[in-house]
Amino acid sequence: MTNKLKYFVGNWKMFGDFGSIKIIYQIERFSAKFNRRNIKNKIIFCIPFTLIYFFIKKIKSKLISIGAQNCHHHSAHGPYTGSVNASMLKSVGAKYVILGHSENRLEGDTNLLIKNKITSALNKKLNIIFCIGETLKEKNKHKTLLVLKNQIKGSIERKHNLSKIIIAYEPVWSIGTGKIPKAIDLKKIFEFIKNEFKKIFKTKKFPVVLYGGSVNSSNIRFFSSISEIDGFLIGGDSRSSKKFIDIIKNYYK
Ligand code: PGA
Repeated sequence: MTNKLKYFVGNWKMFGDFGSIKIIYQIERFSAKFNRRNIKNKIIFCIPFTLIYFFIKKIKSKLISIGAQNCHHHSAHGPYTGSVNASMLKSVGAKYVILGHSENRLEGDTNLLIKNKITSALNKKLNIIFCIGETLKEKNKHKTLLVLKNQIKGSIERKHNLSKIIIAYEPVWSIGTGKIPKAIDLKKIFEFIKNEFKKIFKTKKFPVVLYGGSVNSSNIRFFSSISEIDGFLIGGDSRSSKKFIDIIKNYYK
């Protein structure tokens, strides 16, 4: 068993209303008891913009942090109908923001656009959960490592506050499909991401790297055996308190 801090991050995507706060309450209650066992974990929920302020007002403890799932790259106000920027997120109390999710890349987010979003979110002192991952086609062409390297180099800069950037490795073919990578591939990929990050940005510290894609309470034991993984970005199974709690329980079993 490792003593290192582990992250369990929920990504609700387009889900939730005010009533969904009960999911968070249940996880908060579980976490208050569970943490007495001296287990070091960090729980973050990235929820829709419409719920951030309400949830932050409702959550009494520091056991759960709240984040957003995207932001606009401009930090000033402007003619961007429907958009929300990093200063707006900061003003409602968000602590984290997911950037570069493959679902947003599919809708047109490029490495450069993501870089501008990262810069503007860091300027507002938000923590970043930066998603990278290869498609099935890229995997089959053995391009995974190259794709990951380009995504990292294309969106992160040495001048960024690197300690506020968490990387989430999410193979696109694994998101919502029930398919997960092999242990041998995961080990290689996580080592690669961590070592490349240090090399590219000439930093001494390894980044925190999460895994995301079809994580559930049955396969979490498999992932917990891979020590390079610092935590998880959980989509589908973060919308049920029972499933999310079972993931954490089984991780430490
Ligand atoms: P999933 O989603 O857990 O439903 O596969 C993960 C994500 O998209 O972050």
